[in-house]
Formats: sequence, C-alpha cells, structure tokens
Amino acid sequence: MTVQFKITGIIGTGAMGRGIAQMLAQAGSEVLLHDSQPAASSKARDALFAQWDSMAEKGRLSAEQVASLRGRTRCVDALDDLAGCDLVVEAIVERLDVKVGLFQSLERLVRPDAVLVTNTSSLSVTAIAAKLQHPQRFAGLHFFNPVPLMKVVEVIAGLRTDPAVCRALTDYVRQMGHAPVQASDTPGFVVNHAGRAYGTEALRIISEGVADFATIDAVLRDQVGFRLGPFELLDLTGLDVSHPVMESIYRQYYEEPRYRPSAIAAQRLAGGLLGRKTGEGFYAYVDGKAQRAAEPPAPSVTTLPPVWVSPRAARRAGLLQLLKDLGASIETGATPSESALILVAPLGFDVTTMAVVERLDPARTVGIDMLFDDAQTRRRVVATNPATRSDMRDAAHALFARDAKPVSVIRDSGGFVTQRVVACIVNIASDMCQQGVCTPADLETAVKLGLGYPMGPLEMGNLVGPTNVLEVLFNMQTVYGDPRYRPSPWLRRRGAIGLSLLHVEA
Ligand code: NAI
Repeated sequence: MTVQFKITGIIGTGAMGRGIAQMLAQAGSEVLLHDSQPAASSKARDALFAQWDSMAEKGRLSAEQVASLRGRTRCVDALDDLAGCDLVVEAIVERLDVKVGLFQSLERLVRPDAVLVTNTSSLSVTAIAAKLQHPQRFAGLHFFNPVPLMKVVEVIAGLRTDPAVCRALTDYVRQMGHAPVQASDTPGFVVNHAGRAYGTEALRIISEGVADFATIDAVLRDQVGFRLGPFELLDLTGLDVSHPVMESIYRQYYEEPRYRPSAIAAQRLAGGLLGRKTGEGFYAYVDGKAQRAAEPPAPSVTTLPPVWVSPRAARRAGLLQLLKDLGASIETGATPSESALILVAPLGFDVTTMAVVERLDPARTVGIDMLFDDAQTRRRVVATNPATRSDMRDAAHALFARDAKPVSVIRDSGGFVTQRVVACIVNIASDMCQQGVCTPADLETAVKLGLGYPMGPLEMGNLVGPTNVLEVLFNMQTVYGDPRYRPSPWLRRRGAIGLSLLHVEA
C-alpha cells in the first residue's frame, strides 16, 4: 500500500504534536518536526526515539523498523524547510489569530496541492480556512491525548473543504492504525459534543440534593457499566479543562439548554478543587488514591411487610419475578393492603407524582429504577419521596439487598440517576444524528473509543428501548418544565414507532 502523504510536517511539538508525529512516522511518512522553540522539537524527537526503542525492547518493533522510523524523523528550524511537504499538521497554541497567521505563512510556502490541517479541539475549521487563499485543501484532523493510545481521529470538513481531501485523510488515519470518523465543522465536533450529557446531568442531580457524588458514580458504574463515574472522570480531567469546554460548547450553541453547565463546577473551579492534579476535587486524594467511604450496609429488618406493585410499573413482569426470587410476599389485590410496602417503577416521573396520580399512600410508597433489566445491572436504586416513612424505606432497602446485590437509596428525582443521565446521553447523540454532525455508525465508534463508554450512545438507547428513553424525557419535561429534556426529533420519531436509533432513513 502506498502511503497517502509521503512527506509530512508537524508544527508545534508539545504533548499533541509529539504523539501525532509518532503516528505519521508509523504510517510510513517522512516527518519534519518544527516548533517556535527549537529545543522543543529536539526534545520531541528524542522522546520519540526513546519511545520506539522501548517498543523494540517489548518486541513490538524490529531493529530495522526502528532504524527506518528514526531515519524518517528529523527536526527543522525554519518554517521554510516545510516547503516540500505533502501534508502539514498544526498542533500549536489554541488561538485563532496565531493559527491563521501560521497557515497564511504556510500557504505561501507549500505546493498548491499540499494538504494543511489543524488539530484544534475548539476552534472552527471553517473560520481558519476563511482567511486562506485555498480553503478547499484545509481540514481538521483532531487527535486525542495520549495520541498513540486514543484510537479515534476526527476528520473535520470545513464548509469549503474538498471531499477528496477528507477521503485522503481518512485513508491516512487508517494507515496509522487508528479509526477515522468524519465530522462536520460544529462545536465540539463528535467526541466533545457527545460527551456533554454525562457530567452536566450528573452535576444537575447533585444540585438537587438527590444523592451525593460518590453514590452517583457508583450507580452509573454499576448500572450502565461506565468505567469511571462522572465525578471520577471530572477529577481525572480536571475542572480547569472540563468546565471551559462545557461553557464553550454551551455558548457556541447559543445557550442551548441541553448543554447548560453547572454553577457547582464553576464554584469548585474558582475554589481550586480541580481534581487529582490538585489533590482534591470531588474526592480527596491521598498518595494519588481517591478516598471513599465504605458502602453503608443494608439495614436489618426482621419482618418484611408484604409488597404491592403498581400496575403501571416499568418492566413489571421482571420486577415481580425479582421480588419472588428475593422471597417477598407479593400482594395481588387491585389496591395495597393497610400494611403493604408500595412499589412504583416510573420512567421519568418522580415517586411523588406516581403516588399522587395512582392515589397511593405516599408514606408507604417507594420507587425502584427498572430502566435496565435487573439482570444487566450490578446495583439497584431505590428512591423515597418526601413523605416516605423510614421503616418503609429500610424495608425496601433490605428486601432488594437480600441477594447481596448493592442497593443505593436516593431521594426523589424525576428519572432517578441512571434514567436521567442515560436519557440525556441518548438524546444528545440523537440530536447529533439529526443535525448531521456525523453518521450514526461514526458516532458510536467515536464515543466508544474517544470517551471509553461501554457502548455507543445509540446502542445504549436501543438496549433500554428507544420508546422507554422517549418516555423518560417526556415525563422529565413535565416534572422539571425544563427544555433541556425535550426529545430530539431523531429520538422522538424512532422512539414513537419503536425503531432502532441506528436506523437511517432510506
Ligand atoms: P502544548 O503546549 O503541549 O504544545 C504546543 C507547542 O506549540 C509548544 O511546544 C509551543 O512551543 C509550540 N508553539 C506555540 N506557538 C507556536 C507557533 N506559532 N509556531 C510553532 N510552534 C508553536 O499544547 P498541546 O496540548 O500539544 O496542544 C496543541 C494543540 O492541540 C492545541 O490546538 C490544542 O487545542 C490541541 N489539542 C490538545 C489536546 C490535549 O489534550 N492537550 C487534545 C486535542 C487537541
């Protein structure tokens, strides 16, 4: 296979440029490293050489391959030295004026058919291209940190980018061994846009005092399979990085409520509670390890009351089977007896609303989240309403913990924790498909590789049922009266007729 771009240049050899240089060389290209600080490019080259030596020691490269990679990688002091490049990748400081100035200088140097790309994560590719003589050969090539390990690369077409340029870049990314996804030039492109719901919705739950952040993390890890809970992730990234991204995407979409950032994050950022890097974020860190309270034990209840299950409960048959397996005494009457623990399993609605609508005694009413099939999860979540008696809360907790599966008890909230976060993730992803930010298939790839989610957001919606996600959002809109929960047309139409969220119209 002939390499797409024989001679390539990297401008800006910091954290990103260095990693990108490694990928270009490994794709088979000659790589010229340039930085405005000459010491930076030689430092990057030395680090690359050391990296390849270490890969050879682990048997991942042969001595010949290392010699070839070294022979094709060198530093150049002057921008003029990049004149012969087929492709130049920019990874300098994130400032529009500086990037535009650099590309204007480059344009005068390189051949008219040379391709120029930016690794920007937040600026508009179109806005940079607009200041150039040949915007058609300009595109975005968005790598993630650390570049060799993050296997996804966004290929971004500006309004005037020639589709042939994007095709060549897409093939080139494959030659690097990474997965290319094609994105239109929209705020946050694919990965940073799709990642908006996880943190912002979790912060919103915190702001309502429904549960503490450690509980929210545990629930999302154990119910959905996220590797890190949203607060663990915010601590890892650092609020100094995450909060400005939340604000930037919100502003660039003209204050679209779905992306609204949180005042809690802004205040913690101002207070210097950035995360791991400052030793304290949502968690305190001792020797780099997050300090966590032990899981509270389930209360011991000697005599459990009989249980009555609302006829409107989500996954009612599954819930009844679960109760049977847990040895509950299940009431079968049309209404609960005087002593019964009353169980509701709403989608989107809060427990209070269910008690009112179904004319149930709120003091004995408790909710359980049944969005996911119980067998798919490693934790159960039970919610009280403001009137729930402590003996009824403890009875529900003890009952659902009988098989030793962890149980989290939270306060009443439209949509529990998982329903809220999952519905917002699926909704934002659906809206990205509706807007044509990328194809549904590329969205799934980008989210799995770029965000490390256990499954793509559309697959997540399909797993719990598009109609259920739609119901969660409709009902949350009623509970909260907040337009951030309005369903995207993509989800509304597919959910209404039970069609897969990955279905693309003929
Ligand atoms: P960095 O600060 O580690 O490296 C930037 C390098 O560019 C420095 O070595 C600096 O001397 C050099 N530089 C600055 N202005 C220059 C100029 N006018 N000409 C030549 N060299 C110049 O920054 P980092 O993190 O590598 O980011 C670079 C770019 O990549 C930014 O646009 C950033 O938004 C983007 N990006 C960063 C990611 C990250 O996680 N760090 C992820 C994806 C994109």
